[in-house]
Amino acid sequence: MKLSVIGCGYLGAVHAAAMASIGHEVVGIDVDERKIASLSAGEAPFFEPGLQQILADGLASGRLRFTTDMAHAAGSAVHFVGVGTPQQKDGYAADLTYVNAAVDALVPYLSAGDVVAGKSTVPVGTAATLTGRVEATGATLVWNPEFLREGFAVQDTIDPDRLVAGVPTGADGERAADILRAVYHPSVTKGTPFIVTDLATAELVKVAANAFLATKISFINAMAEIAEVTGADVTTLADAIGHDARIGRRFLGAGIGFGGGCLPKDIRAFSARAEELGRGESVAFLREVDAINLRRRDRAVDLTVQAFGGSVFKKNVTVLGAAFKPHSDDIRDSPALDVAVRLHGLGAWVTITDPEAIDNARRIHPQLNYVDDRDEALRGADAVIVVTEWDEYRRHLTPEHAATLTNGRVIIDGRNCLDATAWRNAGWDYYGMGRP
Ligand code: UGA
Repeated sequence: MKLSVIGCGYLGAVHAAAMASIGHEVVGIDVDERKIASLSAGEAPFFEPGLQQILADGLASGRLRFTTDMAHAAGSAVHFVGVGTPQQKDGYAADLTYVNAAVDALVPYLSAGDVVAGKSTVPVGTAATLTGRVEATGATLVWNPEFLREGFAVQDTIDPDRLVAGVPTGADGERAADILRAVYHPSVTKGTPFIVTDLATAELVKVAANAFLATKISFINAMAEIAEVTGADVTTLADAIGHDARIGRRFLGAGIGFGGGCLPKDIRAFSARAEELGRGESVAFLREVDAINLRRRDRAVDLTVQAFGGSVFKKNVTVLGAAFKPHSDDIRDSPALDVAVRLHGLGAWVTITDPEAIDNARRIHPQLNYVDDRDEALRGADAVIVVTEWDEYRRHLTPEHAATLTNGRVIIDGRNCLDATAWRNAGWDYYGMGRP
């Protein structure tokens, strides 16, 4: 099938390459010339495991190409819109500028019978406001939210755990749902749940999923706060409640909290949209979820300060991690980088390392001292703080080896990802998040 993908960021670039990998003929379109040049040359513009390979394969097969010219969308059966919906500069609501611009630019190239499939995360009701513009061409607008996780984006796109299609009522909607089934034929054949619903539900499914995940993380971080004043251990608590299949252990990792380009802005946009709808109180708890999350960064900084008896001024602190999570070079709203910047602000000599995110971090925070090599970064440190749980720090760094490099023996485990006993037994002062 011929497909166009408008917007070639994290979502769109992966979607375009993944769709080509399952046999479709795909054109990826973006206004950013550098991004298009890079993708056209087979270079993924960001780090995402597996993307480079499917990108190269797609280009070599001739089924995948990239352009800045929207006219190339003409003739595709389905047009996916996967542009960004960042937080507004002066408020919590989502900025829909790019979605509106993408649809406006696409409309002149639509033909009767085409399907326009929104993938961007949008406030509920957005699709309804776009429908008129799309339907005037005889095309059908549907909403097909994306649930991919950065770091697993290729796998999540090719083999998702569910597919959701919000379609208008009537024959056009049914036909559009069938077209999406054909697009996602490998998953549909495999029996992956394919949920057909209305536009508003599809939009809401996405924000509800992210709100739930954020709430789960902040719940366990709230328990960490209680554990901190009672001497309890939040990781054991998470294991114990996680055995209850109704609760589940995943996303109960207490630590410095969530970040990235999705969870933080999505819960804020959801609050803002609920207010507009006169239902602000229904999701008022999301403000608390946000507040708990941000307090965990303070906690990590406080622990570091405490470890030095009250001041980090002129102390050498090595920060392990800059990305908002492992397997990613994304530093958007990264708790890891935030902690590093705050320690720097308190007068610490901060050295920061990360396997993938240094270039991105340096662009935004040039004031920090970046070192590529982990061991080089550890050399001479008075304290070490782990803020992104890359395997390099979590699994492959032993306390004995670290001790051969550092000056002090203080380790702050911002992700509760280290074996506290092993570090203590090796002579380190170990500080966890919500664990004694
Ligand atoms: C999130 C959702 O998980 C995806 O389903 C969704 O498609 C995506 O947003 C999106 O809206 O595009 P992502 O931002 O890639 O995906 O990251 P997550 O894996 O959800 O992690 C988010 C943050 O939560 C990270 O900073 C991570 O370190 C943190 N986290 C995660 C915890 O602090 N504790 C946990 O137990 C799990």
